[in-house]
Amino acid sequence: MRILIKHVLAATEPKTALTVKGWVRTRRDSKGFSFLELNDGSCLANLQIVVDAGVPGADQLPHLTTGASAVIDGSLVPSPAQGQKWEMRASRVELIGPADTTYPLQKKGHTQEFLRTIAHLRPRSNLFGAIFRMRSRLAFAVHQFFQSRDFVYVHTPIITASDCEGAGEMFRVTALKGNPDEKPEADFFGKPTYLTVSGQLEGETFACALSNIYTFGPTFRAENSNTARHAAEFWMIEPEMAFCDLQGDMDLGEEFIREMARYALEHCAEDLALFGKFVDKGVQDRLKFVVERPFVRLPYTEAIGILQKSGKKFEFPVEYGLNLQSEHERFLTEEHCKSPVTVYNYPREIKPFYMRANDDAKTVTAMDVLVPGIGEVIGGAQREERLDQVLENLKFHKLKPEDYWWYVDLRRYGTVPHAGFGLGFERLLMFLTGVSNIRDVIPFARTPGNADF
Ligand code: 4AD
Ligand code: MG
Repeated sequence: MRILIKHVLAATEPKTALTVKGWVRTRRDSKGFSFLELNDGSCLANLQIVVDAGVPGADQLPHLTTGASAVIDGSLVPSPAQGQKWEMRASRVELIGPADTTYPLQKKGHTQEFLRTIAHLRPRSNLFGAIFRMRSRLAFAVHQFFQSRDFVYVHTPIITASDCEGAGEMFRVTALKGNPDEKPEADFFGKPTYLTVSGQLEGETFACALSNIYTFGPTFRAENSNTARHAAEFWMIEPEMAFCDLQGDMDLGEEFIREMARYALEHCAEDLALFGKFVDKGVQDRLKFVVERPFVRLPYTEAIGILQKSGKKFEFPVEYGLNLQSEHERFLTEEHCKSPVTVYNYPREIKPFYMRANDDAKTVTAMDVLVPGIGEVIGGAQREERLDQVLENLKFHKLKPEDYWWYVDLRRYGTVPHAGFGLGFERLLMFLTGVSNIRDVIPFARTPGNADF
């Protein structure tokens, strides 16, 4: 039976009758024997395999080139080589699929830009293997975090008729051949529909029944921003809590990020070491810092004051009533606070209709968590739970109450204070790995002008 290389390398004693399967990273030939480095993606390390010239299948050795797939039987013995505990002595080798010299991953040290052009092969590189193993583990950690706190996982729809964020950045979904705007009533759903930008509105309905819920699924935004932090398709985690206010929301958001950093340090040490070496020297220290220290909290007004007094030249203006741009967010978290920062109570005009109005009548209970290297990773709020006020908010944002009738109903029947947030999974991964481009933490990036693979 085949054993994954990560388990082979974790052995505590020699083994016989072992079978491994994987892809050849390198082969070196000596007189009478060859060394193969085999990788099966289960861990960063390769298994070194010694193949004597006489063993069955050894005649195929010339075809066991970089990128070829192979099955090897043999035994596990202590390795005389430095830096590795075990190596395998082959008793039989079998070539499964050859790879000729056109295989693009011949040598180490390709740039991330080049590897993006071969997204179908890049998971076979050390760096991308590590990134996508970490992505999988962190997805598991997300579920563990919420499940262990009694949050219920809810699958919210991907096709929707409502623009949660009100930013008009939605992809149209249509079954019509011609212009869907001409006859939306003749379209598949009888009205204009889109790919969701957020599962929040539907999530709120479930929180107002099951108390604490979370979503974790794909979201879509047609914003034409070609930055290293925006993707047109990304995965969002959205918890929503009944009987919760802004304080509780900030507490959960900060605890969540801290737990993810702790999890990465504990369960992804080998991959993190690789990021520390080749991607971002400071990554491990940054994660330790996040685990150990409380986040700074700043009201929006105070954040504006800090930016205005900073003496820094920013590309975008800093003024009460304007959105914080990524350069402002990064100044606050990287230079001023030197810590993750939670900014809260933003002006009403620049935030969506669902946020709760504060007593000052100017601000709403919004909160964004900013982290070094990225800026915003979390956007959230306490929701407006008062019927008259939610109707007023819809009017203020020029939205039609009848389009949101079911959302408004939650305020009509047993309304409760509630709050939640959205965390972009790719931005979290960028923070945890130090990888600086969102295209490199998602298997197949969807960005303006690019839907390859
Ligand atoms: O701040 P946003 O727009 O908030 C919402 O969508 C709320 N409905 C969430 C909620 O309260 N339930 O987005 C939330 C997070 C951002 O902080 C960011 O991490 C990520 O989603 N995000 C993106 N990630 C990658 N590419 C994009 N284009 C993103 N837009 C938002
Ligand atoms: Mg936001």
